[in-house]
Amino acid sequence: MRVIDLRSDTVTKPTPAMRAAMAAAEVGDDVFGDDPTVNLLEARAAEVLGKEAALFLPSGTMANLVALLSHTNPGDEVILGDQSHVFQYEVGGVARVAGLVTRTLANRPDGTLDPADLRAAIRPETVHSPGSRLLCLENTHNRCGGAVLPLAAVEELADIAHGRGVVVHLDGARIFNAAVALGVPAAALAAPCDSVSFCFSKGLGAPVGSVLCGSRGFIARARRFRKLLGGGMRQAGVLAAAALYALEHHRDRLTEDHENARRLAEGLGTLGPFRPVAPQTNIVVVEVADGRVDDWLEAFAAEGVLAVAFGPGRFRMVTHLDVGRADIHEALARITRLVGARQR
Ligand SMILES: Cc1ncc(COP(=O)(O)O)c(C=O)c1O
Repeated sequence: MRVIDLRSDTVTKPTPAMRAAMAAAEVGDDVFGDDPTVNLLEARAAEVLGKEAALFLPSGTMANLVALLSHTNPGDEVILGDQSHVFQYEVGGVARVAGLVTRTLANRPDGTLDPADLRAAIRPETVHSPGSRLLCLENTHNRCGGAVLPLAAVEELADIAHGRGVVVHLDGARIFNAAVALGVPAAALAAPCDSVSFCFSKGLGAPVGSVLCGSRGFIARARRFRKLLGGGMRQAGVLAAAALYALEHHRDRLTEDHENARRLAEGLGTLGPFRPVAPQTNIVVVEVADGRVDDWLEAFAAEGVLAVAFGPGRFRMVTHLDVGRADIHEALARITRLVGARQR
C-alpha cells in the first residue's frame, strides 16, 4: 500500500533533477566564504526577496533565532503573535538563547495582529521597563491553517512598529505560498519588513535549509550569530544546490498544492465527522466533530494516510510536492471507506 504522507510539507524527498544538481555542485569552505554555490544561492535569495543580502542556514528555527539575536540586545522586548511558530514551536530559544522578554498578542484567525493591540503594546525603554525592540510576523501563518497575511495588513503593522522605533522580522517560512496565493511577488510581501526568513525544506521541496534576508549590516551581524550557534557549515554547496534548484523550479507549482488542499478539504467536508477550515494555501486544519482525534489518526495511519494532531479536537494535513492529485483522491477514498465502516 502506498503511504500518503500529509503530516507536513517537510517530508518531501529530493527529486532526481535536484539530486543531479547536488551531485554536480561546485563547493568550497563556506565559513571562509569560499563556497560558490552558497554564494550564488545567497545572492539569488536576496534578489528574489528584494533585500541587500542573505545568509544560508540549516533550518527555519535557526534563521528566526539568528534574526532575533541580530536585531536585539538581551533584555529587549519582542512582540509576537501567541500562535506564532517562534513562540509555540522553537523551544523558547527567544528567551533561553536570545534573552528577550516576549510580549504576545492574540493572533486573529487570519494570522494577523490587531493594530490597536500593537499600538497599545509597544513601550519605550525606561528605568523600569524593557523597551519594545522587535515585532515578528508570520506569513503564511502555520497555526492559523496556512492563512495568508494580506499585504495591506503587513504594511499597516510594520508602519505602526517603525513609527515607534520597532524593527520588523517576518517569519516567511512559507512566503512563496503566500505570494502565489495573492498573485504578488514575494519581494512585495517582504518589503515592509526589515528582515525575512524563508525555508527551502517545506513547499519548495529541498531536503535542508533556510535563508535570512536583510540589509548588508544586518546580515554581517547574522553571520556571526550563525557561527555562534554552530550553524557555520563547510562544503554546504551540496545543500545550497538543492535549495537553488528548488527556488528556480518549485515556486510556481505551489498553486497545485493549494488546489490539492482545496480538494482535500472539500472531500473531508462531505464526511460527517470532519469540519475542515477552507484552506487558503497548502495547510488543511480539520475540526473533529465526532470521535477522538488520536483514534482517527490511528485509523488513517492503518490505511496508509498520515496526518498530525493540531491542538485540541483538530488535526492537520499538508499538501506538497510528493502528493499529486491522484494521491488526494486516493486518501479521500480510504478515509471515506473508514468513515463508512465506523458508521455501520
Ligand atoms: C512558520 C514556520 N516558521 C519556522 C519553522 C521552522 O522551520 P524548521 O523546521 O526548518 O526549523 C516552521 C516549521 O514548520 C514553520 O512552520
